[in-house]
Amino acid sequence: MQNKLVRQFQPEDRSAVREICYLTGYLGESAEYYWKDRESFSDMWSGYYTDKEPESCFVAEVDGKVVGYSLGCFDSRNAWNPASVGTRHALLRGLIFTKGTGPAMWRTLFDVSSDLVLRRKLPMKPFMDSRWPSHLHIDILEDGRKLGLGKELINNIRDRFKTMGSPGLHLETVLENRNAVAFFKAMGFEVYKEPETLPGIRAKDGTRLHGLVMTMDLK
Ligand SMILES: CC(C)(COP(=O)(O)OP(=O)(O)OC[C@H]1O[C@@H](n2cnc3c(N)ncnc32)[C@H](O)[C@@H]1OP(=O)(O)O)[C@@H](O)C(=O)NCCC(=O)NCCS
Repeated sequence: MQNKLVRQFQPEDRSAVREICYLTGYLGESAEYYWKDRESFSDMWSGYYTDKEPESCFVAEVDGKVVGYSLGCFDSRNAWNPASVGTRHALLRGLIFTKGTGPAMWRTLFDVSSDLVLRRKLPMKPFMDSRWPSHLHIDILEDGRKLGLGKELINNIRDRFKTMGSPGLHLETVLENRNAVAFFKAMGFEVYKEPETLPGIRAKDGTRLHGLVMTMDLK
């Protein structure tokens, strides 16, 4: 029988969290498919939480190995904007001219420009609404899924922010990540509004993917 455990994040879990972030970063599969620079990817999606708000982070272990996490932010106004973190890497490390990351960056610029011209709107900005000021990210490696760890990881974040007095929690996911959307619904999250097209990232058949905001009241 497997030994399962969910516990508070510790500084020595940082590299495992960054690795899991990358290995699950494309709809639950490795982000390598579209982004070949691990450092910038993990900085964009897990850096703020592990480095600035570690007390709101939890990890799941199976047989002593970290297999997943939930990363929380109590007040989303403090979180780093992934687009700004990515742009910083692009400028300082020349990622826009690198084979493994350049195409996704140029595609993002193309999508943002064409959305502006054709649809007269800019792509999704990080979600801000004072009714749901806290947010989270959750990812588990394939071997650790469907064991009840996701539920426990979500409950830990929910209970922490509720105790701290947050009125609500939100998350941003991808509509086409059907398993994640079904899981979040099972956990009590509700769809906030119609999904919006995302810039840069594509389905494997080349079609555009859609960002979905989901919310949970904590009052
Ligand atoms: C989505 C994810 C976090 C779910 O975690 P998990 O540990 O597999 O889920 P659990 O075993 O804790 O399931 C909790 C509940 O959700 C339900 N659930 C989970 N996946 C489901 C699915 N695809 N469809 C319907 N219900 C689902 C379970 O039936 C369970 O219900 P119960 O409480 O009534 O028993 C995990 O699969 C994962 O990390 N996926 C890849 C990364 C990812 O997509 N992350 C989200 C990015 S926004």
